[in-house]
Amino acid sequence: MANYPTKRLRRLRYNPIVRNLIQETVLTKNDLIYPLFVVPGENIMNEIKSMPNVFQMSIDVLVKECKELVELGVPAVILFGIPENKDEQGSEAYSSNGIIQRAIRAIKAEIKDLLVITDVCLCEYTSHGHCGLLKGEEILNDETVSLLAKEAVSHCEAGADMIAPSDMMDGRVASIRKALDYKGFANIPIMSYAVKYASGYYGPFRDAADSAPAFGDRKSHQMDITNSEEGLREAESDVEEGADIIMVKPAGAYLDIIWRVKEKLQMPTAAYQVSGEYSMIKAAGKMGWIDEERVMIESLIAIKRAGADMILTYFAKEVALYLNKNK
Ligand code: PBG
Ligand code: ZN
Repeated sequence: MANYPTKRLRRLRYNPIVRNLIQETVLTKNDLIYPLFVVPGENIMNEIKSMPNVFQMSIDVLVKECKELVELGVPAVILFGIPENKDEQGSEAYSSNGIIQRAIRAIKAEIKDLLVITDVCLCEYTSHGHCGLLKGEEILNDETVSLLAKEAVSHCEAGADMIAPSDMMDGRVASIRKALDYKGFANIPIMSYAVKYASGYYGPFRDAADSAPAFGDRKSHQMDITNSEEGLREAESDVEEGADIIMVKPAGAYLDIIWRVKEKLQMPTAAYQVSGEYSMIKAAGKMGWIDEERVMIESLIAIKRAGADMILTYFAKEVALYLNKNK
């Protein structure tokens, strides 16, 4: 008995009140960004096969959805567009009448208190599904960057509140920043997909956004899954170029990277819990193999604990419902 420990960590696990007092990581609705997929047409709400409870929506449905999100307390959305027509240059990405530009205007006409972020890339808009202009099979960097800057400006002209370039071209943050400042959008923040891996976890998204590359892969611009120091270099250069928020993507398999980016750069840090992460939890939940709600929360707490200030997640709406119910 004498050498029994005086330290007993279980003392502070005694009951829920004590446990809540010492809770270090808290997930709130303020942390959430909800990805939404917009399609042409009217009254369309297509569930994505590989992503239960995630829908492609036409603009009219999208606006209703956004109203509901505001009521639930989801503070921000990020929009992905599936255009009417795709071409080699991804023209609809930077057309003032493009799907995203129309969607932003429709949301902004009716809804005040929702932060509208837009994903800036070309892969949803190009006929070949690649993130930039091609010369043969090569993705051209600088020519793509000019188009991305045009796309970002056109999103801001439509009323976007924040711009999120996801293409991973070199120098795009600087070019977008310069273009936005020149066009009078100096106050629009850039959330850069700074550390984005060439990941198998994006599979279901490519169904949702109809953006699978027609040939090849994204390894000439997205990062190799084995690297971490390179991720810090990516994040550093985006900060130098003027990024306001640094994103790590995917989240769950890259918690170490979130942690290192946060520690090293001390920047507002976002993490994207991507489609594959979502679908795996949903699938196991549907099979009855895990308690879906519990694992949903646990997966998001892990991402916050690793250092993320905000999380892009397809669970955002369900989390808001959960938090509203469990308050
Ligand atoms: C576009 C983009 C992708 C995702 C976000 N923006 C796809 C990709 O890079 O292939 C993935 C999101 C997800 O899987 O949920 N570049
Ligand atoms: Zn892309």
